Amino acid sequence: MMGGSMMGGSMTAQRKEAKTWEFGDFQTPDALAYKAMAHLRKLDPDFQPGTIVEPTCGAGAFLLAAADAYPDAERVVGLEIEAAYLDVLRPKVAARQDAGRFDLRAADFFKTEWESLLAGLAEPFLIVGNPPWVTSADIGRLKGRLQGSNLPQKSNFQKYSGFESVTGKANFDISEWMLIQNLQWISGQSGCLAMLCKTAVARKLLRHAWKEDLPITGSRMVQIDAMQYFSAAVDACFFSLKTNAGQSCRDCALFDDFEARSASKVFGYHQGTMLAHADGFHKRKAFLGSDRYYSWRSGVKHDCSKVMELRKTENGLKNGYGELVEIEDLCSFPLLKSSDLGNRRVRETRLEAIVTQQRIGQATDYIRDRAPLTWCYLQRHAAALDGRKSAIYRNKPRFSVFGVGDYTFTDWKVAISGFYKCLKFQVVSPIEGKPVVFDDTVYFLSAKTEAEAQFLADLLNSKPCQEFLQSMVFWSDKRPITADLLKRVNLEKVAKCLNRGDEYRNFTDQPI
Ligand SMILES: C[S@@+](CC[C@H](N)C(=O)[O-])C[C@H]1O[C@@H](n2cnc3c(N)ncnc32)[C@H](O)[C@@H]1O
Repeated sequence: MMGGSMMGGSMTAQRKEAKTWEFGDFQTPDALAYKAMAHLRKLDPDFQPGTIVEPTCGAGAFLLAAADAYPDAERVVGLEIEAAYLDVLRPKVAARQDAGRFDLRAADFFKTEWESLLAGLAEPFLIVGNPPWVTSADIGRLKGRLQGSNLPQKSNFQKYSGFESVTGKANFDISEWMLIQNLQWISGQSGCLAMLCKTAVARKLLRHAWKEDLPITGSRMVQIDAMQYFSAAVDACFFSLKTNAGQSCRDCALFDDFEARSASKVFGYHQGTMLAHADGFHKRKAFLGSDRYYSWRSGVKHDCSKVMELRKTENGLKNGYGELVEIEDLCSFPLLKSSDLGNRRVRETRLEAIVTQQRIGQATDYIRDRAPLTWCYLQRHAAALDGRKSAIYRNKPRFSVFGVGDYTFTDWKVAISGFYKCLKFQVVSPIEGKPVVFDDTVYFLSAKTEAEAQFLADLLNSKPCQEFLQSMVFWSDKRPITADLLKRVNLEKVAKCLNRGDEYRNFTDQPI
């Protein structure tokens, strides 16, 4: 169910919807909150919280379920930014016999002095709830329609060590920031964190905790059918862990549902790497380490597909505005996109990409003399190219692209799409006599010859290497295959394991 329906008044429907999104407002159905709390109790019947905290309590589904599950907790603290939800919750609390232990506050998580609010409250804490399902980018997009302000203060979150590494700089889930803070509250004492959230967010929190060596144990995730409960097409889970409750542990058990008796898999952490299948990883961990010779690259980045990507038609090349385009061959290359790799279409393409440079930062005015039609075309669309928002284009030669180097123009490559849920590496040959370029969601290795490309594909598609990669791939991620993942494979070690070490040395010109 999507929240916000009870927030009426003068708000227009559009503003209401924007506000719902800004606050990541998906209220938990009562039945799910009670199920989750029953699960938590069953899991750890001895755990007795002194204080229950719901940091973004909404209409109170989790707050009330937790209060009922733990009737001996001294205080039940609920905070919520949207006062209308507290108007719904307050009468429910007032009607309870234990109303005196509740403390409900209309406040902004990011502007709350949590340290003083929690000081002196009985330990251990149970931090419970369902934080907002929204990313900083979503909020950015809402700017203008609303304040677009539901974000931690920049100065605030930069102070927090490890935040950048957890979230990445460009875009992060608001709940990630909140959960990191929640965990901080209980890192110095014994406590329990139990939250319904996106599975990817829970995983990032765990990576942070494991990386920072925080004293956590008993991590587990129970998968939730987010479509059924929230009409949302995301991977979500009920995630719980305890702090300072025995020896720290770097494993997390994943359960398919609340009824499952045993974990369907265990994932973990090893030397800075998140493991989707700890067992598979340990079997093949000899392959871990970057390769000395081969470097993974991503395809060309231009952020202007309407101008830079051209489709072959009966009448000639057409750009994304539907205009016929006449340009020289010099800067035009056959283009394969992620979807082509994902669907194994690598022998031919109907797309061409304009690649204006052979290396990053190269001056582009050579095009004026050597390819005047291309230069005119770029000039004609200069407004779109000059208007590219990403900071990487600032103070760079006009019409610059990224992801270019000698490796872009080798005839043979072995490539994979970052987006498709398939670990198949494909050999890519030149098309119509020209080297193929990829979009920036494709990762590839360059090869000098077809034999070398085939050799690399054999290594990468071999069973041992696939087992190793599979152990680190989280298929529910938006981009499951990343350069970071691929760079963890030492191909020389894979070659040796397959008795092909001599070929590796031959291809890499090393003395045998
Ligand atoms: C996913 S809903 C869940 C509500 C409640 N925890 C539950 O389980 O039903 C997230 C809630 O966070 C609230 N929220 C969003 N941003 C907030 C902030 N900065 N401070 C406090 N609450 C916030 C929203 O209004 C919404 O009620």
